[in-house]
Amino acid sequence: MSEATSTIVSSERDTPLAVPRHVAVIMDGNGRWARERGLPRREGHRAGAESVRTAVESCQKLGIDYLTLYAFSSENWKRPPAETAALMQLLERFLQQKTPELKERNVRLQAIGNLERLPAASRQRLEDSIEQTASNSGLRLILALSYGAREELCHAMQEIARSVEAGRMRPDEIDLETIAAHLYTCDCPDPDLLIRTSGEMRISNFLLWQISYSEIVVTKRLWPDFRESDFQEAVLEYGRRQRRYGGL
Ligand code: FPP
Repeated sequence: MSEATSTIVSSERDTPLAVPRHVAVIMDGNGRWARERGLPRREGHRAGAESVRTAVESCQKLGIDYLTLYAFSSENWKRPPAETAALMQLLERFLQQKTPELKERNVRLQAIGNLERLPAASRQRLEDSIEQTASNSGLRLILALSYGAREELCHAMQEIARSVEAGRMRPDEIDLETIAAHLYTCDCPDPDLLIRTSGEMRISNFLLWQISYSEIVVTKRLWPDFRESDFQEAVLEYGRRQRRYGGL
């Protein structure tokens, strides 16, 4: 479990509120945003990619250390090929255009998910951006791509079973830390705050292990409309919560 690292002052109460160390976001509503405007769905995704930039800036202003964005789920492969191709192209363009800015802003890019399923060009671009930002010490921006939490857990179980089979570990030595250490997220703290946009009350196979004690904020705002003020409001809401982790 992670601890909040800093505080912000709520204008309503003039008291310091905790700032989450790690924020995870289910970016939802791109398609509805486009439909409301009579635009093709890909235009919603394009506008959504701009909100990613806003989210990065908001995190940096608030002193948040980790931002994990659910950019493409393992289930999203079921969408029509034209839409998955448009999303992959958008990812490539985003990485190409924004990597210099990420470097300038001292952001370190990482990715989690079954990256082997990504088209070769997207994967190459991703690996390149990850490498270019690897020594940055500021915000950690983690893109969940071709990501599914059940698959992640399944992969972890297989790895652990291999260790047992090879005699490196006994079954009764498997504990919570063992499992956490075999997840894609092994080198970052659990999310303190999970934000979902567009009003849907679902987790959608996102970070099932890691969000056990995350505070959840669901906003009706569609992701392409999600601005700095919305991010701040979610963080303030987090600050008002009492985290007890099952205790008193
Ligand atoms: C959900 O909206 C969003 C996605 C499946 C993709 C998220 C992608 C982006 C925000 C843009 C690309 C990101 C990067 C990092 C370049 P939806 O299509 O399910 O919306 P709907 O529920 O309104 O149809």
